[in-house]
Amino acid sequence: MTTSKNIYWHSATVSRADREKLNGHKSAILWFTGLSGAGKSTVAHAVEDRLYQLGARTYVLDGDNIRHGLCKDLGFSDADRTENIRRIGEVAKLFTDSGVMALTAFISPFRSDRDAVRELVEDGDFIEIYCKCDLDVCEERDVKGLYKKARAGEIPEFTGINSPYEEPLNPEIIVDTAAQSIEDSVEQIIRALVGRNIIPAG
Ligand code: ADX
Repeated sequence: MTTSKNIYWHSATVSRADREKLNGHKSAILWFTGLSGAGKSTVAHAVEDRLYQLGARTYVLDGDNIRHGLCKDLGFSDADRTENIRRIGEVAKLFTDSGVMALTAFISPFRSDRDAVRELVEDGDFIEIYCKCDLDVCEERDVKGLYKKARAGEIPEFTGINSPYEEPLNPEIIVDTAAQSIEDSVEQIIRALVGRNIIPAG
């Protein structure tokens, strides 16, 4: 529902299909989800690097970065996380329409929020990539030192400690970041994109 009045949708003359043709690949949302420290940003950036080398147009929307600007008014309550993901979903949709592949790296802990983004876009546009990694391993890595703080009670509502993470039930791709290398995860994702005819076979 929109609260604005007197607004009209203006259709573009240059279509998404035109832009995709120009780019030589389709656009899509590569939606990385998983616990903090599971490797979402690392793998997303590594995939982007590879896609860039293949000549594809991409952009990474990264949790911590977006929270410095577009979502700087949001915290980590359930409602704020939902609004965070809603906004990112809308932005990613715009990227898709522009012909660019959007790679998003957000914990996005709630299944209903991820499903809402899936519903927002056309069938096949939303590719959910679950960065699967046990809490123990993420906590062991503790790249940002946040698990330690959360265990010490300094961060209320920290995902995996005192705020839930709902695993995807049927993601398009699962990368086992605890067991496999970043390179293997990148290969797996690139192969899946070729298999879905999003990028041409190399
Ligand atoms: S989401 O839950 O709304 O999807 P998002 O991916 O934007 O989260 O941000 C997660 C990042 O914020 C984490 O990687 C971590 O660096 C930081 N962070 C700070 N506080 C929290 C918290 N309470 N829970 C999870 N992550 C947090």
